Amino acid sequence: MREVDVRELEINPFTLIGRDWLVLAAGDESGCNGMTVSWGHLGCLWSPNRPTAIAYVRESRYTKEFMDKSELFTLSLISDRKALGYLGSHSGRNEDKFAGAGVKPLYIDGTAAVEGAKLIFVCRKLYAAPLDMNAFADKKIPATDYANGDPHTMYVGEIIKAYTE
Ligand SMILES: Cc1cc2nc3c(=O)[nH]c(=O)nc-3n(C[C@H](O)[C@H](O)[C@H](O)COP(=O)(O)O)c2cc1C
Repeated sequence: MREVDVRELEINPFTLIGRDWLVLAAGDESGCNGMTVSWGHLGCLWSPNRPTAIAYVRESRYTKEFMDKSELFTLSLISDRKALGYLGSHSGRNEDKFAGAGVKPLYIDGTAAVEGAKLIFVCRKLYAAPLDMNAFADKKIPATDYANGDPHTMYVGEIIKAYTE
């Protein structure tokens, strides 16, 4: 993997996150977990020179436990659609899901990503808060997306390193 300046990347965040999907992971050699995400943001926050990534993680996800106790998290772009499907439909609570998905964790910069990823963002957690159900201007969203509870927590991370293959 080659470290790159995020400003030199030619990526489309809409297709990268919403269509290609990413693996959100946190933890280290002593224990880690990851899951597929297709909701998120890339941009600048708290300075025009501070590249950030935002991930949204439902309360029920095992990955949330690692997000909450870790200072760092990663977002990995992998091309194995089958593995993405697996990581997005099985819980690490019940199994070693990386093994089940046929991928290996890549321990990097004190955190965990996915081996063989085409792109990795290493993020330092800056802010984490559950979405406030009373703050929705569009009341249809909580009525539909959160009808059964299980709210998302928003994690804003500063992208401190980016790697491409
Ligand atoms: C394409 C796709 C996108 C997903 N995006 C998200 C997401 O952005 N946030 C979230 O909380 N769950 C999302 N999920 C669901 C989690 O990946 C899924 O519940 C996973 O099994 C959680 O694993 P864990 O319990 O090991 O953390 C997505 C699933 C798929 C298939």
